[in-house]
Amino acid sequence: MNQLLKIGHRGVKGYEPENTLISFQKAIDLKVDGIELDVHLSSDGEIIVIHDETIDRTTNGKGLVKNFSSLQLKQFGIPTLSEVLELINKQCFVNIELKGIGTSKPVAEFIALFISQKNWNHTDFLVSSFDWKMLEEVQLLNPKIRIGVLTEESVDLALAFAKKIKAYSIHPDYRLLTKENVALMQENEFEVYPWTVNSKEDIQKIKSFNVNGIISDFPDKI
Ligand code: G3P
Ligand code: CA
Repeated sequence: MNQLLKIGHRGVKGYEPENTLISFQKAIDLKVDGIELDVHLSSDGEIIVIHDETIDRTTNGKGLVKNFSSLQLKQFGIPTLSEVLELINKQCFVNIELKGIGTSKPVAEFIALFISQKNWNHTDFLVSSFDWKMLEEVQLLNPKIRIGVLTEESVDLALAFAKKIKAYSIHPDYRLLTKENVALMQENEFEVYPWTVNSKEDIQKIKSFNVNGIISDFPDKI
């Protein structure tokens, strides 16, 4: 069994404002193996790092992300994927969660660009989503991109879909896990990265299932 990977959720959401450059820098300082972040598209087609489809909860502005330009979003402190990757500079892998409609193609193209022009590797990226159709699109566009199948409903369905698209990993809500279903996913050669495991007790329990990585707001606690 390889070393358990520590993956910082939205950077380190437990310590800094989620999905901000400060949060990703703190994750690096805490020596995470990977960071998880969420993406939407701006009005000018930039890939923007934000969880919600509006800017209401995380900034002092109001409105849909897709109705602002990347420059306007920057003024609210919302970074582009490009800015986050420049900051990360290959110090850990990046789990890009496709949230916004239409993000599959731009993200697949963006990864290809970073690999060909900035010397990043496919192993520096992992693309996940609850929207399995978008994962299928990424897989078709570039089968080398590592794919993580997110589920909050069913490990069995996620496993079947992961087999179908030859995914790299399965990312279940940690409350769906048992020692047996973790072993089954691993027998099928998938990495298992549950989310979002935060309390000391839950971290201990999930570690006892021998998962491959844990996505947490407090990755240093893992
Ligand atoms: O990628 C795991 C986790 O981030 C999925 O849920 O709502 O935090 O994006 P959410
Ligand atoms: Ca997420």
